[in-house]
Amino acid sequence: MIRVTFVCLGNICRSPMAELLFKKMVKERGLTDSFEVTSCGTFSYEDGSPLHDPARETLRAHGVSGDHTARKVTMDDVVKSDYLLVMDESNQSDLTEFAGVAGKGKIYMLMSFTPRGGAVADPWFTHDFEKAYADIEEGCRCFLDFILQKGV
Ligand code: 4NP
Repeated sequence: MIRVTFVCLGNICRSPMAELLFKKMVKERGLTDSFEVTSCGTFSYEDGSPLHDPARETLRAHGVSGDHTARKVTMDDVVKSDYLLVMDESNQSDLTEFAGVAGKGKIYMLMSFTPRGGAVADPWFTHDFEKAYADIEEGCRCFLDFILQKGV
């Protein structure tokens, strides 16, 4: 079992988009039972919120369905996860500080698995949900390839 937790700031846009898309990718490969996938945010101000509407609509336009209720990351997430995949540098520093030694070797930028690296720009601020989706799709696809090369 590989435990993957996607992490962003509010857990209403990028990380739940990544969670739902990655679950679909894994399902399409017949690997649902090999993965436990969730998402959370580094801050709690969106706790209990559903997916942000434009995020849900963008997913739907790409054939990805499902919902998510926002929640803040816990130490349990850190301890149980094999991979904590963050969207940008500020998620990375916030999560690294929160996780302490328990996060050592587990926190990666999602886009670091792609040839171009970088960050998933926050659509909350850019309003560009298509760009965020494209980044997340590439990141999730390359991350899954990485895992499959290592062997599930
Ligand atoms: P996310 O986007 O981190 O991709 O879920 C954000 C959602 C909410 C806020 C910021 C970013 N906010 O400031 O409330």
